[in-house]
Amino acid sequence: MRMRKMSFLVLVFAFCLLAASAALAQGGQGILLVAFGTSEPDARPAIDNVLQSVRQAFPEAEVRMSYTSNIIRRKILKEEGLAIDPPAVALAKMQDEGFKSVVVQSLHVIPGEEFSGLADVVDAFASIGGKWGFDRLVLGRPLLDKMEDYENAVGLLKSRYLPLTADGGAVVLMGHGTHHEANAAYSKLQLLLDEEGLPFVVGLVEAFPGLDSVKRRLKEMSPSHVTLVPFMVVAGDHAKNDMADEDDPESWISELKGEGHKVDALLEGLGDGEGLADLFIGHIREAMEEN
Ligand code: CO
Repeated sequence: MRMRKMSFLVLVFAFCLLAASAALAQGGQGILLVAFGTSEPDARPAIDNVLQSVRQAFPEAEVRMSYTSNIIRRKILKEEGLAIDPPAVALAKMQDEGFKSVVVQSLHVIPGEEFSGLADVVDAFASIGGKWGFDRLVLGRPLLDKMEDYENAVGLLKSRYLPLTADGGAVVLMGHGTHHEANAAYSKLQLLLDEEGLPFVVGLVEAFPGLDSVKRRLKEMSPSHVTLVPFMVVAGDHAKNDMADEDDPESWISELKGEGHKVDALLEGLGDGEGLADLFIGHIREAMEEN
């Protein structure tokens, strides 16, 4: 028993040495991806896909993942025994392991509450100087921030969902929404989609424009059919329940069917398909080059 404990300790020690030397061998470049997270295990590949793509794009860097949602992290720990670090813990570990340069990349859709909380954490770590601090710590912006981000997002949505509208159909993009002022990002996206004459309608679960606005727009469009898709990184709880649960009379699919539309729901998060990771990889590269 004692021997086993000893060899376990030796293993742990060797692993720590390896981890530390890996950080140093890589010139101390780290990338910390930060997602909101999801409590649905079968929705998690959407986030893990992004992680794998970023690892492939930056083979010289150590790429790690963290979740901003405390509720989700605690639920995953309780139900699956899986510990996922919040950004502050992940950064403290990277600092302790000797990383010199770290890019923190938000995987959030808008620069809302989760993103601004993350920015505060990054600022706090950036203010630590001397031998304990990072030489360089930068934050990559979320999916929708600069004008070019919106243009790229429109491009992504077109390539993914325009084929679904071939014969007069419409696509409803269900976003999350927030009380934070950054909620306006969704309306700006709708304006850009409208300017291109795309049959896409943005609606939000928790904020304006909501389901009533979606209904009004669809009435004007009178599409041959409607496809509901989540405008979220993962097709998690909101997508499954609020959007696509046909047994729930208040779900979006039931409500839109009640309006006389022919409706399908696509349980596919933005991270499940091609293209999303490339946009975030672009943001990481820009953050690396920033002064
Ligand atoms: Co929510």
